[in-house]
Amino acid sequence: MSKIAIMGAMPEEVEPIVEKLQDVKRTVYAANTYYEGTYNGHDVVVAYSKIGKVFATLTATVLLEKFGCEKLLFSGVAGAISDELNIGDLIIADGLCQHDLDITAFGHPFGYVPEGEVCIPTDVILRNVAKKVAASKGLVLKEGVIATGDQFVANPERKEWIGSTFEASALEMEGASVAVVCSSLEVPFFILRAISDSADMDASFNFDEFLESSAKISADFILSMVDAIE
Ligand code: ADE
Repeated sequence: MSKIAIMGAMPEEVEPIVEKLQDVKRTVYAANTYYEGTYNGHDVVVAYSKIGKVFATLTATVLLEKFGCEKLLFSGVAGAISDELNIGDLIIADGLCQHDLDITAFGHPFGYVPEGEVCIPTDVILRNVAKKVAASKGLVLKEGVIATGDQFVANPERKEWIGSTFEASALEMEGASVAVVCSSLEVPFFILRAISDSADMDASFNFDEFLESSAKISADFILSMVDAIE
């Protein structure tokens, strides 16, 4: 069985996972804390990165390169772009893009830099595991593009722009970093988010109110996935 990295951005996103681990060993490395342990016999390493693309890149890299994880599952919350996503709904990314990456001055599309891709696809096998788990639990799992940027979006115009430019269903601040690291190192990865807000005028209030409950919905689902991964 492979060693699985489970990553979030904030303490609220990983605490429901860390508290379910057995034989936990805590390691501080590169100014961050990593929890190695087992979950129903599966070896896992859990960490939260802190918010944003740079911290997420660091943590994902450490999980793969120092701890030797062979798969990475991300659990956390997101702002909804699609009207079909309500607070607490789960969405899995089929691809991730960076909505704040802009060298359009040189004639490139938004989100693109030479030798990169606008949208990085997630692992199909892990997505299929998630769909099976959802079906077995009678849970609805939405699927779509998730847009990442170093910006808490609380603005309807910005949200609409991200939605139409990248055909994105939800937005957050870490997923595309994980995608860049994992695809570069050829490690299968999976991004799950539960909706905490709608990236509109009420976003910061909704986020504060629903962060914990939505993070828990996502974390519980990720633990079920660990059980289902071979
Ligand atoms: N994560 C959850 N809600 C978000 C928002 N509105 N903007 C960016 N990241 C988020």
